[in-house]
Amino acid sequence: MKITGSTRVVGIFGDPVVHTLSPAMHNAAFESLGLDMVYIPFHVRSEPLNALEKALAGVRALDLRGLNITIPHKERALGLVDELDDNAREIGAINTVVNRDGRLFGYNTDGAGYLLSLKDEAGFTPAGKNIVIIGAGGASRSILYSILASGPASVILTNRTFDRAEALVNEFAPKFIGVKFYAVPFEPDALEAHFKDADLVVNTTSIGMMGRGELDIPLGALPRRAIVSDIVYKPLETGLLKKAGTLGLKTHGGLGMLVRQGAIGFELWTGRVAPIGVMQKAAMAALGIK
Ligand code: ATR
Repeated sequence: MKITGSTRVVGIFGDPVVHTLSPAMHNAAFESLGLDMVYIPFHVRSEPLNALEKALAGVRALDLRGLNITIPHKERALGLVDELDDNAREIGAINTVVNRDGRLFGYNTDGAGYLLSLKDEAGFTPAGKNIVIIGAGGASRSILYSILASGPASVILTNRTFDRAEALVNEFAPKFIGVKFYAVPFEPDALEAHFKDADLVVNTTSIGMMGRGELDIPLGALPRRAIVSDIVYKPLETGLLKKAGTLGLKTHGGLGMLVRQGAIGFELWTGRVAPIGVMQKAAMAALGIK
């Protein structure tokens, strides 16, 4: 990579930011298309609170081309940019910023990245399907919103803290009145009853990530056509996916979502088609996988 006076800078704001795979993915993509751009991680601390505001002012002042925003800034950043994509406004968080002549435009590409990876890697589209979503945190909001917007027959939301699932249903249901959409308790009996007709089950929590235990759900109740999807990508195959595989169910891991949420951002910053294969390979190399 050659950095010159004309190199455009893109970055990521997060706290922590040391483990991010995005620099590897995007720098490989810039290089493969011969773009004079570089992607840099910036450690923007959550304290003091105005650090994010100052960092975003820096994006305008330094004329950075754009950004990714990661934990813990995705929600606060939404209120600090100049324009918002509708999807980001509804989700309540942004993960991507484009700087257009000093005006910062906020997007949320997580849900769209997830749907793209489901389609590319598992041949699945949500329209007309029965879907169970586990988790009611930030990752769930993006995925849930994008799935609801794709015309499923039903969406069942379950979460350890039932009230959070119910609150999300109350918030999103009025926008999607054509979808059977409700919350159920995170208990084996309730899950079994809904797994019987499910086409897709998605884990949006971080359970299954290295050192965070394994998700234990009644996979045996799923029909043979069902896909089990996990947004965790470290390890690439979580305990949940392993178990689903041994039951003969189709599985879908989380790396494709990470790559594609980044690919959509790449296209917004560059106006070029993202080299998904290059980005995936770079992400795997950064994870230490060949
Ligand atoms: P994120 O933005 O990554 O989604 P979050 O907002 O902290 O993070 O949400 C984490 C999700 O994982 C929540 O749905 C959480 O359930 P609670 O709402 O009950 O906290 C879920 N979660 C985390 N650890 C869990 C565990 N051990 N068992 C079940 N659910 C868990």
